[in-house]
Amino acid sequence: MRRPSPLPPAARAELAAVLDPAAGRTLPGILYTDPDVFAWELAALWGGTWVCVGRLDDLLAGVTQRAVRAGEALVVLTTPGPADLDAVRAFHGVCRHRGHELLTEGSATDRPRIVCPYHSWTFGLDGTLVRIARASAVDEATLDRTDWGLLAVPVEVWRGWVFVGLDDPPPFGDHIGELDDIVAPYDPATLPVAHRIVYDVAANWKVVAANYHECYHCPTVHPELSRVADPDADESVPAGRGDWIGGPMPLADGAETLSETGAALGPRLPGVDDEAARRVWLGQLLPNLFVAAHPDHLVTHRTVPLAPDRTLVECDWLAPAGTDVSGSVALWDRVNRQDWEIVASVQRGVADPGYRPGPLLEAEASVRRYEQAVARAHLTGRLSADREAADRPAGTPLRA
Ligand code: FES
Ligand SMILES: [Fe+2]
Repeated sequence: MRRPSPLPPAARAELAAVLDPAAGRTLPGILYTDPDVFAWELAALWGGTWVCVGRLDDLLAGVTQRAVRAGEALVVLTTPGPADLDAVRAFHGVCRHRGHELLTEGSATDRPRIVCPYHSWTFGLDGTLVRIARASAVDEATLDRTDWGLLAVPVEVWRGWVFVGLDDPPPFGDHIGELDDIVAPYDPATLPVAHRIVYDVAANWKVVAANYHECYHCPTVHPELSRVADPDADESVPAGRGDWIGGPMPLADGAETLSETGAALGPRLPGVDDEAARRVWLGQLLPNLFVAAHPDHLVTHRTVPLAPDRTLVECDWLAPAGTDVSGSVALWDRVNRQDWEIVASVQRGVADPGYRPGPLLEAEASVRRYEQAVARAHLTGRLSADREAADRPAGTPLRA
């Protein structure tokens, strides 16, 4: 049983107004500012679901091991060889001896073994402890190496993204649900990262997410975006099965994609039909992968919470090899930077003594759905976009 959310009774009462469809209030400020809430969310909510740690071909191409952060944990991903990306495994990234980090976060190597930098205990890529450096005969007699292998962590690869589930995550298929049907035509596993920008954003991870879920602010904040997209026609569709929230946004008349001029970067992706060619599908797979599927490329945002008021955002452009993505980078980078100013101001605002939860409008239906998922998570200990999934006991598959 997970530790309950550390919210005081007054904040719990405010969650009722988030969950009440008639009230439709935003979340209480403590969810964005309190270090204990932040730590609990990472441990319970991020720990209890599937956290996206990046792109498989980016993390493990040409190496056998890489350390990544998944919520509050350091995780080492391994593959038996660069040609064997299908056989990915994951382990807690701290040594079983005295806890040194096996690799520093983000680093990678092509060594055939994992060697701890402290006393050189050596582990296989399958996590087994294969050597205790300079162990005496007494040590060898008293220590059973099979007791001290690395602690395995569930890992899944979906359409080129790697996911880690630290603490009793839901069945992976339930987590993805119908999102797979939406993303499949774009076949992202075949699209390399053409460009990446990493932003250090001065806002809570939930402020960043909520901002992604509405284009109500687009005419005010992103005039350039409003020339190539039609934010007023931004459709909020009922969520399907799975831990995702999102919907299509139509392109403006004459625009072929979201780029500076609206011109396509290249041919449509092979699976994109005439209907999908007129829109961009935008959505979040909880807790931290945001996918904007354009007719000819994808733009993704992956969040890494660093502090209650600080989030790293890794923005990737995925496109067929050789595509010039500069037109999309120019637009999205400008839009991103406009958003980071907005969310930093909201972060200061929700930390201000004058903040009170406000009303969400119809145009913010996806924000409401997201904030309701967060509110439910604080009451149930599990973050899910799916009300039924959130309420069922951990590990129970959904009905087919
Ligand atoms: S802490 Fe890793 S070998 Fe000692
Ligand atoms: Fe925005």
